[in-house]
Amino acid sequence: MISSANLPSPVQVIEHPLFTKHKLTVYVKRDDLIHPVVSGNKWRKLNYNLQHAKSLGYRGALSFGGGYSNHLHALAYACQQQQIHAIGMVRGEQHYETNATLTQAKQWGMTLDFIDRKTYKLRHDETYLADLKSRYPDHFIIPEGGSNSLALKGVSELCDELNSQVEFDTIITPVGSAGTISGIVAGDKQQHNILGIAVLKQAEYLHEHIQSLLQSHHCNAQNWQLFTNFHGGGYAKFCAEDLSKMCEFSQLTQLPLEPIYSGKMILALLTLIEQGFFPAGHRIVILHTGGLQGLHGLIEQKKIKADEWLLPPAT
Ligand SMILES: Cc1ncc(COP(=O)(O)O)c(C=O)c1O
Repeated sequence: MISSANLPSPVQVIEHPLFTKHKLTVYVKRDDLIHPVVSGNKWRKLNYNLQHAKSLGYRGALSFGGGYSNHLHALAYACQQQQIHAIGMVRGEQHYETNATLTQAKQWGMTLDFIDRKTYKLRHDETYLADLKSRYPDHFIIPEGGSNSLALKGVSELCDELNSQVEFDTIITPVGSAGTISGIVAGDKQQHNILGIAVLKQAEYLHEHIQSLLQSHHCNAQNWQLFTNFHGGGYAKFCAEDLSKMCEFSQLTQLPLEPIYSGKMILALLTLIEQGFFPAGHRIVILHTGGLQGLHGLIEQKKIKADEWLLPPAT
């Protein structure tokens, strides 16, 4: 068990003129507050993965991510805390090594292995994974984003927490590698509507991926819906207008956001509300999946301005 977790994470009401106008009650499940580093869905997805790796006697864990990956960042810290070694297979060039995310990951003891984009595409390929396994037999391989059946087990626990905290109709989450939405579906026991907002372009393949993650968890619930039209131009892409809407929402509600996951989910929510998607009286829970460390990398790349975002304290 990764220690010092603030669980159950708090649930807060968010006030916004659009919610009032449409007679909606909106709550946020603050998983971003679970842990200062291993925050949001990272804590939930890694917890059982690392317990499993340790119980089977692995010396370390290996996983995949981009140069600013929240997942590798969290994995590096969690492995250090669990006293096991971490290897990050990083998509892209060596120069990422000096960015804020990977500098910290290295400080926490992660070994970085930079792989070109063509090789990175093989990250789910059985032959490639078998080869990696023979290179690192004492490391447990965790898929990109941590999304496997053990992640679903961890994420599903948030449903029991939520049920004891608040009554609601719909829960909404951002979707990348799909472990989070699948874990919610698995834990929800068909009680609520579950909406996922894909943050990548051409994410239709995720429908099938979610089905297969659910099957691996012996779950065939159908009470979920994936929106693939709110990616805003693609993964980690956003226009100035969208950024300013995210910042405006964040300032108004004092909810810290980042533009890759939680920011896109909020813009999708606002659009769906404007389109009349939710009936009056509906109660919605937004899942805050963390990822605020990513703000530092975006500032470094000059993609966003530091003074416009509610920044997490430096770790
Ligand atoms: C902050 C944040 N939110 C949401 C997601 C999406 O979660 P998932 O990959 O489980 O779909 C990720 C990626 O893991 C993330 O880093």
